[in-house]
Amino acid sequence: MNENEVASPVSPIVVRASSDDDVPAMLDIYRYHIAQGVGNLGSFEPTPFDADDLKARRKNMRKHRLPHLVATIDGAVAGYAYAVLFRKRPAYRYTVKHSIYVQPDRLRIGVGRTLLLALIQACASAGFRQMIGYIDSANVASLRLHEACGFRQVGYLGAVAFRFGEWTDTVLVQRAIGTEI
Ligand SMILES: CC(C)(COP(=O)(O)OP(=O)(O)OC[C@H]1O[C@@H](n2cnc3c(N)ncnc32)[C@H](O)[C@@H]1OP(=O)(O)O)[C@@H](O)C(=O)NCCC(=O)NCCS
Repeated sequence: MNENEVASPVSPIVVRASSDDDVPAMLDIYRYHIAQGVGNLGSFEPTPFDADDLKARRKNMRKHRLPHLVATIDGAVAGYAYAVLFRKRPAYRYTVKHSIYVQPDRLRIGVGRTLLLALIQACASAGFRQMIGYIDSANVASLRLHEACGFRQVGYLGAVAFRFGEWTDTVLVQRAIGTEI
């Protein structure tokens, strides 16, 4: 096992940069979670339902040194995670916001933790200093995962999203990465 592998109850979880070949699997995962109405999916960014959209997005992110990672188990995509600039204005160039999605059959075996820790490391290596997450207040899995990975709650936005016929709240979480300030 090398440093990019983590032992799991099944086979090792391997994290690597995503490639165009991973796009269909990533879209399947994304569509599944959208259909479940989990978290804030669809509330904060345009939905990449199209494979070409996702490929273009990945290419643009590589250009800006923004990580886009997949976790695989036995060679199959088990989850993915990426970071984008928190805001486009230059003053915010050291701060990213991120997203993470795990394949429904691979939940609770450490894929999310492995991916998020790898994303933190990749963002720090690329020179970013702060990571911010937007989490639906009912998304216990994501709240616990972020807490376990060193994020702290820094904000609570009441009734800012309207999904499936009801208003939902958003929790803001933040973690310093790289050199602490
Ligand atoms: C949130 C998500 C990424 C977690 O991924 P995961 O691979 O299941 O998480 P892990 O197995 O690595 O769990 C890491 C820790 O997170 C917490 N956690 C994960 N799922 C949990 C759940 N359903 N309930 C409570 N805590 C949970 C636990 O603290 C866990 O540590 P433990 O297993 O030692 O108790 C996954 O549930 C997911 O993809 N959800 C849908 C998409 C989503 O909501 N993304 C985040 C948007 S902000």
